[in-house]
Amino acid sequence: VSGILVLGREGQLARSLAERAPPHGLALAFTGRPEADLADPDSLRRAVRASGAEIVVNAAAHTAVDQAEDEPEVAQALNATGPQALAEAAQAAGARLIHVSTDYVFDGSGDRPWREEDPTGPKSVYGRTKLAGENAIRAALPAHAILRTAWVYSPFGRNFVKTMLAVAQTRPSLTIVGDQIGNPTSALDIADGILTMIGCWRDDPRRGVGGTYHLAGTGSTSWAGFARAIFALSEAREGPSAEVTEIATADWPAKAPRPLNSRLDSSRFAETFGYRAPPWPESLQKVVDRLLGGDPARD
Ligand SMILES: NC(=O)c1ccc[n+]([C@@H]2O[C@H](COP(=O)([O-])OP(=O)(O)OC[C@H]3O[C@@H](n4cnc5c(N)ncnc54)[C@H](OP(=O)(O)O)[C@@H]3O)[C@@H](O)[C@H]2O)c1
Repeated sequence: VSGILVLGREGQLARSLAERAPPHGLALAFTGRPEADLADPDSLRRAVRASGAEIVVNAAAHTAVDQAEDEPEVAQALNATGPQALAEAAQAAGARLIHVSTDYVFDGSGDRPWREEDPTGPKSVYGRTKLAGENAIRAALPAHAILRTAWVYSPFGRNFVKTMLAVAQTRPSLTIVGDQIGNPTSALDIADGILTMIGCWRDDPRRGVGGTYHLAGTGSTSWAGFARAIFALSEAREGPSAEVTEIATADWPAKAPRPLNSRLDSSRFAETFGYRAPPWPESLQKVVDRLLGGDPARD
C-alpha cells in the first residue's frame, strides 16, 4: 500500500495514528486546516487530488457534542458535507476512504451491545450529523470503511481521562453519571485497528471494503466506573484522586441528550481484520501511566 493521507493533525486519533504507524511499517501523510478544511469542500477535493493517495483516513470531525446543539449547521458541514466531499474526491481519484463515526448514532435503548446492522436513532445534533456523514459516504463511494468508535481518550488532546486527573487536583469529590454504559476506547487502539486493516489490504485489497464496523475498547462500564478506574490507577502511582458519587443522566443537565446503552459489539471488525482492542482497563493503565509519568507527548 502506498500513499496514505490522514485528515487531522492535532486530534486524538490523528496523533495516535502518527505514533503507531512506524511499528506497523506504514508511512502516513497528514493534512488539516487551513489547507484541507472540512468546512471547505473544494479544499478537500484539492487535498485528495494533490496527495495522489490510495487511502484517505478521515480522523477529523466536529466532536464537541454539546456545542453542536447550538451550531447544527456547522456540525452538519463538518460531519456530513465535508466527509461527502472527501468521499466524492476519493471516488474521482480511485482512492478508498476510512471514516470514523460514533456510538451516538444509536438511541441507547436495550442492554446488549449494538451491532452494525442495528437500526440507528441518533438523539443529538452530533449523532444525527455523524449519521448523515456515514450515509453520504455510502452513497458516494463504494470503496469505504466506516468505523464507529466510542468514549475516546488518549495521551493527546482533550478527553475524559485528562479532565478527571485535572479536576481531581482541586476537588476531593466529583459527581459523575452512572447510568450511561459504554466502551472506553484508547485512540491508540483505534489507530492499531486502522493500521492493521490497512496492513490486511496489502495481501487482500478487497477485504472488508464497503463495510461498516464497530471498533471500540473491549468490555464496558459507566462514566462513574470509568472515573473510579482512572482514580484507582492514579492513586496507585501517587497521582490525583477523588471520591466519585454517581448521578443519573436524568438529573444531570447536559445540552445534548446521550444514549444510556452505548455499548458496541466489535466482533465483526475482529473477524474481518483480526484485531480486537485489549480489555479497556489495560489500555487505560498505559495512558494513565503516560499522563502521570511526565510523557512529553501527552499534551
Ligand atoms: N472523542 C470521542 O469520544 C469520540 C467518540 C466517538 C467517535 N469519535 C469520532 O472519532 C473521530 C476522532 O475523534 P477525536 O477524539 O480524535 O477528535 P478530536 O481530538 O476532537 O480531534 C478532532 C480533529 O478534527 C480536526 N478538525 C476540526 N475541525 C476541522 C475542520 N474544519 N477541518 C479540518 N479538520 C478539523 C481537528 O483539527 P486540528 O488538528 O486542526 O485541531 C482535530 O484534528 C471523530 O470522527 C469523532 O467523531 C470520537
